[in-house]
Amino acid sequence: MRLGGSILKHIDFRYNNSLLDILEVDNMENIIGNVHESLCKRECQGSEFLGWIDYPLRYDINEVNKILLVAEKIKNNSDILIVIGIGGSYLGARAAIEFTNNIFSNYLNNQEIKKTKVFFAGNNLSANYIAQLIEVIKDKNFSLCVISKSGKTTEPAIAFRVFKKLLERKYGKQEASKRIIAITDAKEGALRDLANEEGYISFSIPNDIGGRYSVLTPVGLFPMAVAGIDIKEVLKGAKDACIEYDNPNLRENKCYQYAALRNILSRKGKDIEVLGYFEPAFQYFAEWWKQLYGESECKEGKGTFPASLLYTTDLHSMGQLMQEGRRNMFETIIKFNKIDSNMIVEEEKENIDGLNYLSGKTIDYINNIALEATCAAHREGGVPILEIDVPEFNAYSFGQLVYFFQKSCAVSCCLLDVNPFTQPGVEAYKKNMFDLLRKA
Ligand code: PA5
Repeated sequence: MRLGGSILKHIDFRYNNSLLDILEVDNMENIIGNVHESLCKRECQGSEFLGWIDYPLRYDINEVNKILLVAEKIKNNSDILIVIGIGGSYLGARAAIEFTNNIFSNYLNNQEIKKTKVFFAGNNLSANYIAQLIEVIKDKNFSLCVISKSGKTTEPAIAFRVFKKLLERKYGKQEASKRIIAITDAKEGALRDLANEEGYISFSIPNDIGGRYSVLTPVGLFPMAVAGIDIKEVLKGAKDACIEYDNPNLRENKCYQYAALRNILSRKGKDIEVLGYFEPAFQYFAEWWKQLYGESECKEGKGTFPASLLYTTDLHSMGQLMQEGRRNMFETIIKFNKIDSNMIVEEEKENIDGLNYLSGKTIDYINNIALEATCAAHREGGVPILEIDVPEFNAYSFGQLVYFFQKSCAVSCCLLDVNPFTQPGVEAYKKNMFDLLRKA
């Protein structure tokens, strides 16, 4: 069965026919209709954090222009921008940059590409990581973008202390403060206080948008702009998705179909979802997706475990598990319809490696054959497959895809009757850590 639409091109029922009674999808129609209404009327759990839902339709263009202006300044005076943040204040920007730019761009020298390189910090507590990044920036002009909605998260706060000190040593306090961009709550938190006190350039995170739903706000847009991504195109993709997926009809709305199917599969014991993708540039998008679903859905003993595998790399490691391990998972395959490179396998006279049967074929064609073969094998092995087609690696598709997953994630949470916008479980490790560190 194939269902139309612009992102989720088809949900593949070939295997699922035997597993899923299509009638079950029918039974979801009313339930999904009600969830749609509760989102529209802002009556669902956590409704005070639904600001993202129509943000692409109503964002402040003056703020976007200011982001572009400040990004231009950083591009002119910095070889490197260090983006400091964790979780929702980190993953979206990194996902966007890897999705749209050359994934090796940080290895190219600046003269060649005339671009400011973006590095990330504050997303772990590894002293080696910080020390090695310091090694990289020591002779370079650099600036900092520190992102934290609460303004008090330990990992980014430690990294910010370290890099701020380096910046001040290199440029003096006054010039350093012009090289710091703070993105935080409009009014509250230690970072807001510091930004006001030190006169940093700052952007605000809307208070009705939580961390993992914030990539389309300055949180993601500013680092993207410095990396040269067309942020207006990102917002346009999100806007079009916002309009397309505002349709209560389950039979027409792919975003809701995705939420309904993963809910049905989970009730049938398929409570691990593997996001399988064949393009390394999608790796950080998968990390962003894992956070989105893991933190939003998995609470109160409920939710589907979000995992991801990069193929064909992981076919040579986790492929065994996918084919013959416990049958408790389903797979969502991400397929790109178009990629830039037309590189082919060239013919060799000697054919010692025996590869001439592939000569003249593009590497992308072979990758797509690998995708088809993998889906068929896994389906045969008892893994239900959903397939999501993404038009191409560009800013517009990124915005579309982000909105698609954000909305279907919120719907998934409503189907489980959990609040999509809290993460109470994250506090447990922090409490232990603060006790051990004797934080007052
Ligand atoms: O989704 C979330 O809310 C979290 O992942 C946060 O983004 C993360 O914990 C970082 O928080 P903050 O931006 O307050 O530093």
